[in-house]
Amino acid sequence: MKRDERPSRGNDDRPRLVWAGKPARGTRELGASSPLVVTAHHGAARADGGAQNRLIHADNRAAMPALLGELEGRIDLVYIDPPFATGGSFSARTGPGAAEIPAYEDRWEDGLGDYLTRMQEQLELFRALLSPRGTIFVHCDWHVSHYLRCLLDEVFGEGAFKNEIVWRYRRWPAKTKAFQRMHDVLFWYGKAADDSHAWTPLYESLAPSTLQTWGTKRQVADFSSGRRKPSQTDEETLGAPMADVWDIGIIAPIAHERVGYPTQKPEALLRRVIEAASRPGDLVADFFCGSGTTLAVAEKLGRRWIGCDVGSVAVHTAKKRLLALPGCSAFDVLSPAGTTRAEAAFGDVSVAATSEAGRVTVRLGEAARVDFWAVDWAYDGRVFRAGSHASRTKKGTALVVEASHSYAARREGQIAVQLVDSAGAESRRVIEVG
Ligand SMILES: C[S@@+](CC[C@H](N)C(=O)[O-])C[C@H]1O[C@@H](n2cnc3c(N)ncnc32)[C@H](O)[C@@H]1O
Repeated sequence: MKRDERPSRGNDDRPRLVWAGKPARGTRELGASSPLVVTAHHGAARADGGAQNRLIHADNRAAMPALLGELEGRIDLVYIDPPFATGGSFSARTGPGAAEIPAYEDRWEDGLGDYLTRMQEQLELFRALLSPRGTIFVHCDWHVSHYLRCLLDEVFGEGAFKNEIVWRYRRWPAKTKAFQRMHDVLFWYGKAADDSHAWTPLYESLAPSTLQTWGTKRQVADFSSGRRKPSQTDEETLGAPMADVWDIGIIAPIAHERVGYPTQKPEALLRRVIEAASRPGDLVADFFCGSGTTLAVAEKLGRRWIGCDVGSVAVHTAKKRLLALPGCSAFDVLSPAGTTRAEAAFGDVSVAATSEAGRVTVRLGEAARVDFWAVDWAYDGRVFRAGSHASRTKKGTALVVEASHSYAARREGQIAVQLVDSAGAESRRVIEVG
């Protein structure tokens, strides 16, 4: 038997993880949840009227059931980087000298069983949303990788396993009487236990010894002598087919892509995942999207995307990051119907609108606590459609405090101004203009 040929076994007779309170498979009532409603819209609507990209501010266990009616079996690629059951609390620092803002907790008061129960429910929902040829990457580390691999085998079937990718990085060494822990793991599974999934081969540089022996021409295997021998062609080589150990640096403190969100993953890592396992136009989703790394890379690579996070700091950071991309496609921000969030107190921020010859100008006064603001120039009293926006960047703290809009025809109505602080808390002012 070859090394990676495994005897085929039904899923029923294989060993399984057991923990107190483990839910029975599939008993969760998929689809029972509040619908998602659009709370804000950014960018121009699609010409074909199709669904926009979506940034969902919700617990994914509420968001995914709400999406099932429309998207069951429709998502091409899911990447998730969930909490790893580290027991830690994570804070964001979103500007130079900015204070720490609590971003998310990775504590499980009822222990690991609680974590695994949630992960099982979530994996079942991802599987339901994936298209028949769709695949999922689950990013984790030594804290839970051994458990998640077993759970993935159980939910997706061991025949659906494709790769265990080791992301090897270098960081400042820790004081430890053991080898340095410097890798994460990405498990890649398909919805189907076959090879129907999207696949674009990637290549890496040839080893120096290979280059020295064979040069840069492509080698093919020659079996004419009964043994495999490499034989040189005239074509330049693309490199060696990429292996499952990826050496990619963590994000440097001064890197342009760093947005100050804790546990932010490098775009180079997501680029490999998305380029290899999806095609342009495919729908890519990340239901633990944090600062929006997957969404930003999907956008740059011409994929459609859905991001979801339960944290306000995460959704705020991802939104700013996406809007900073040149020519970013339109997207909706959604929340479960009936969600009420604490309003940010911007009582000290004055918002003044002046109107002259069909041109309205809005100006913020005393905007020290405003991290992002946007104006809907024709507010309909329901969905906020951002026509202009400005945000603080990590490079400088200055915020553009004035925005103007010229109307094509004389108009009376409302404009709305959305103010957001660096923790993602919002407040909205509505102004009558004539
Ligand atoms: C490790 S971080 C993701 C970081 C992300 N990959 C990036 O590059 O920025 C995990 C994220 O999962 C979110 N999260 C945890 N539980 C969640 C849930 N049930 N639903 C949605 N988001 C959740 C946290 O708020 C956090 O932002």
